[in-house]
Amino acid sequence: MTTRIAIFASGSGSNFQALVDACRNELLDATPALLVCDKPGAFVVERATSLDIPYFTFAPKSYSSKQEFEKHILSELKSYEVEFIILAGYMRLIGPTLLDAYKGRIVNIHPSLLPAFPGLDAVGQALSYGVKLTGVTIHFVDEGMDTGPIIAQEAITVDPDETKESLEKKIHKTEHTFYPKTLQQIFANKGEAVIK
Ligand code: GRF
Repeated sequence: MTTRIAIFASGSGSNFQALVDACRNELLDATPALLVCDKPGAFVVERATSLDIPYFTFAPKSYSSKQEFEKHILSELKSYEVEFIILAGYMRLIGPTLLDAYKGRIVNIHPSLLPAFPGLDAVGQALSYGVKLTGVTIHFVDEGMDTGPIIAQEAITVDPDETKESLEKKIHKTEHTFYPKTLQQIFANKGEAVIK
């Protein structure tokens, strides 16, 4: 049975697009039920419009707290019967309201081999450090910053003449196939994917 997902994103949304495409091409047995976006002007909202995916955008500053906007998100997720939350460039920590409601059913993608280079600008951090190998990590989400249990990783070589732009391009290319493929594996054994 298809899994109903909400994709959370804050920016360009190339991963959002790749996930929707994978669902439509039957590479991922999931229904993209809703986009949740905390930046109403983000390009990902335009993508959702052209792909005909419902979206919920909100301005965090117009709520008194994270708990308040997460309660609002939760009511949207319930009305769209969302089973899993898929983070794809959502630039906020998930709080207890959503973590408790979707325990073990929130997944994130991060552009480094965690636990190396968590947080912002992971690609820039890896380049500045001078690593020869970086990559992409898919993990369950907990209350920390990119700290939840690791599900899958794919390594990417950093070439001697690598620039931030070229490395970002390679990382995105990997993400766009690796994320749908890994989610498909998670959804295939739904119960076992849930962490306690
Ligand atoms: C991706 O590199 C993802 O790993 C990170 O944020 C970026 C989002 O890119 N969490 P996009 O908006 O999907 O193009």
